[in-house]
Parts: sequence; structure tokens; C-alpha cells
Amino acid sequence: MGGYGSAPRALNDSVLTVAENIKLTEKIFWMSFDAPELAVSARAGNCVFVYPSCGNDPMLGRPFAAADADPAVGRISVCYMVVGRGTAMLSAVKPGERLKVRAFTGKPYPEGAKELILAAGGVGAGAVLLKKKERGKSAKLFIGIPGRGYEAFAEKILSLYPDAQIYTDDGSFGRGNSMFAALPRPLSAEKELWCCGPLGFFDAMRRFYESTPEHLYYILEKRMACGFGGCMGCVVETSGGPKRVCVDRAIFRADEVDLHDN
Ligand SMILES: Cc1cc2nc3c(=O)[nH]c(=O)nc-3n(C[C@H](O)[C@H](O)[C@H](O)COP(=O)(O)OP(=O)(O)OC[C@H]3O[C@@H](n4cnc5c(N)ncnc54)[C@H](O)[C@@H]3O)c2cc1C
Ligand code: FES
Repeated sequence: MGGYGSAPRALNDSVLTVAENIKLTEKIFWMSFDAPELAVSARAGNCVFVYPSCGNDPMLGRPFAAADADPAVGRISVCYMVVGRGTAMLSAVKPGERLKVRAFTGKPYPEGAKELILAAGGVGAGAVLLKKKERGKSAKLFIGIPGRGYEAFAEKILSLYPDAQIYTDDGSFGRGNSMFAALPRPLSAEKELWCCGPLGFFDAMRRFYESTPEHLYYILEKRMACGFGGCMGCVVETSGGPKRVCVDRAIFRADEVDLHDN
């Protein structure tokens, strides 16, 4: 794997106008902000803290992967799932409203192998989409979703990446009911797989690639508070010692972390 990109930037808080907040599934939304400068500087691996309100309640921003950046229209986007109070508040935001945003945090991902397979389960797609944009045809994108009710989610991804391979658990659309029938094996130094999704998805990847864990990478989304390395709230224990997801890195080799201990 190649070297990491630039060091994390200084804190950058601003108030941005919400350009769209589209409901893609019962729980998943695509939110875009007018942010011409951020749209130019975004890198895969960047993270956006969105504050659900401009007041003090709640105090903390909610971190989301930068899922897209479009310099042509001057927008950045996140794809989020409603899981609690903060994301429920975000789901009620209307285009034209303004929200406090801290962007970007998070260390850009490294370049990755010559052939890169990006695999995501559900809303985990947000963490890999910008990497697909950066790598173009040298990255293959596999997305696994439940199926019925996720049609608009799949359409959004296909509108950005028509070559994305969508799999649905219920087989109701897409290329079948399991990406594991199509994922290439074995992995190698020339062919890495990066994945993001729920714990069960990571476990399935680990089993599938049990002979080559050194070429399988997890993109982790630990809970975060500060987003700039100060609170130690996002530490992942690795075979090389503790790492902060917000500033050290968010991507880990499958053989250096035990997800059930973190
Ligand atoms: C670096 C990073 C990137 C992320 N990217 C995305 C993304 O692209 N899209 C997306 O939908 N979510 C993403 N998340 C998770 C997202 O930040 C949380 O779901 C969100 O902060 C929850 O806010 P809430 O107020 O709605 O929930 P809360 O009321 O704070 O919590 C509700 C429930 O969600 C759980 N929860 C909260 N935060 C997390 C978390 N980080 N991981 C797992 N469970 C959590 C809580 O334990 C609780 O059970 C990311 C998290 C991190 C740290
Ligand atoms: S979120 Fe505070 S150290 Fe990472």
C-alpha cells in the first residue's frame, strides 16, 4: 500500500447551506452542502462533522464520511443513516437551511494497490465512494444492501458510478443476492480489498479472505467526540499499538486489528 496523503488540516468550522437532503431509504439520506472550496479540496478518507443544530443542543457534531465532492457544482455530500437523536434531527433539515460543519477531518486514505476492490455494506458505501471517484476504472465497487426499499439508494450509487455492482440480500434487484459469488480471490499486494459496513460484514470478509488478511483492509468508523486527536475517544487497538481513527488513520489491515476487541 502506498504512503499516506497530507497531514490533517487545522480545524475548519463553517456554516454551510444545505443544498439537498434526499431520503433514499426509510433511514438513509443523502445530504449535500454548497461548499465550492471544500468540493475542490476533498479527498477520500476525509470526514465531515455535521452539527444537527446551530445552537448548543446537541453540543457535538456527528461525523460522516465525505461521500462525494463535485467541484463542477461546488458541493460536498454525506450519506447518513438515522440511528439516534442527532441524525433524526438532520433528517428533518430542509434545503436552504444552514448548518455548522467541521470539515475536513480525517486523514486521506493511501493510494492503495494497483487493483483496488471497494466493498461496502449499506450506508458503509459513504466511506468508499470518493475513493472510487479518485481511482476510476482501477477500482471496482461492490455494494451489498437489503433489497426492497433500497431502490433509490442503488440508483443514487449507479448515477455516480454506472459500473458499480449492486447485490441485494433478497435478490429483488441487482446482480444477485451475494457479492461473495463475484468477489475475486485471492488478494495480493497488487490486488487489495477495502471494506466498510456493519460488524457482520467485516466478519464475513475476514472469513472469505482468511488466507490473505494482510491484503484485506477495514475502514472503521469509531465513535468520535473532538475529531482532532485530543479526546482519545476513537482509539483502535492494533498489533502496532493504539491508533486514533480521527487523525492517525481510519483504515486497518485485517491482520492488525481484532474488531471484537475494539
Ligand atoms: C469517522 C466516522 C465516519 C462515519 N461515517 C458515517 C457515514 O458516512 N454515514 C453514517 O450513517 N454514519 C457514519 N458514521 C456514524 C455516525 O457518526 C453516527 O451514526 C452518528 O454520529 C449517530 O448520531 P446520532 O445522534 O443519531 O446517534 P446517537 O444518539 O449518538 O446514538 C444512537 C445509536 O447509534 C450508536 N452510534 C453512535 N455513533 C456511532 C458510531 N460512530 N458507530 C457506531 N454506532 C454509533 C450509538 O451507540 C447508539 O446506539 C461515522 C462515524 C465515524 C466515527
Ligand atoms: S475523536 Fe477525539 S481523539 Fe479522535
